[in-house]
Amino acid sequence: MPVTFENRIGHYTERVANALDSILPAETEEPRLLHDAMRYAVFNGGKRVRPLLVYAAGECLQVPAQSLDAPAAAIELIHAFSLVHDDLPAMDDDDLRRGKPTVHRKYDEATAILAADALQPLAFSVLATAPELAPQTRARLVSMVADACGSLGMTGGQSLDLLAEGRDLDADQIEQMYALKTGALIHASVLAAALVAEPLPSEQAAAIDAFGRTIGIAFQIKDDILDVTGETEVIGKQAGADQRLRKATYPGLLGVPRAKQRCDELLASSLEKLDDFGDAATPLRWLARYIVERGN
Ligand code: IPE
Ligand code: IPE
Ligand code: MG
Ligand code: MG
Ligand code: MG
Repeated sequence: MPVTFENRIGHYTERVANALDSILPAETEEPRLLHDAMRYAVFNGGKRVRPLLVYAAGECLQVPAQSLDAPAAAIELIHAFSLVHDDLPAMDDDDLRRGKPTVHRKYDEATAILAADALQPLAFSVLATAPELAPQTRARLVSMVADACGSLGMTGGQSLDLLAEGRDLDADQIEQMYALKTGALIHASVLAAALVAEPLPSEQAAAIDAFGRTIGIAFQIKDDILDVTGETEVIGKQAGADQRLRKATYPGLLGVPRAKQRCDELLASSLEKLDDFGDAATPLRWLARYIVERGN
């Protein structure tokens, strides 16, 4: 069997699962309900795209995987926290996530809020104490990930997303909201590997940066297309949820074919950024295509 990135996905998802398992307090540890809910939010079947991007960018930049376990796990903890909040009644009010009840449906709203509240600082603690990384690298990762998930990143994007419900945003405004709410953490995933790889030639750093920015926007366009074209059983979330909430989305504004076209353009543009890396970027190319072609 050829040793492709696809063959190594199982290895990487296991690596990050092991890291997450050792980071998260056991559900037998008090407060048990909270720890149980935190573990449920993290281990209920995510695709682990962000950790895979960390490891794939690491392969591209020749960073050993053991230096990336902490950033990969920390970013997945942030992602898990964001989904718990995103599903709350005050936000998207969803009952289904990854084919299972959302955290506030399985437990209760207060527990969901607290589980997310605890997942977020845990992520920063992981970055701040990563044994494989130099103190300066840890500090830079903390700062970079904090920016990616704060008011000028993911959280800001979530605010724009909620404010846009029922309103007509133009394509540029929608793309800006995508870049923040989802793009920022995808971008941070590849930047994490670049930070660990430093010092990097400036052209390489710029190429990885641009790749992450571009594929991050494509990720959310695809998510919004799947909301329209996917089946609940396949996507693991209630299909048609965006239309119900009158979310501002590309498929809503332009229709699915033009949204797909924009997604393909962004894929092509993201792949171009990787041209100078040669074979080292094969894993990132594979993941970029997966992000745009995935069925869930
Ligand atoms: C869903 O992200 C939320 C968005 C940012 C669009 P994923 O599609 O990566 O969710 P999981 O982790 O695989 O469930
Ligand atoms: C979620 O976007 C973005 C974040 C959680 C930051 P969506 O609201 O479209 O994600 P899903 O469709 O619920 O997974
Ligand atoms: Mg949302
Ligand atoms: Mg949602
Ligand atoms: Mg969605």
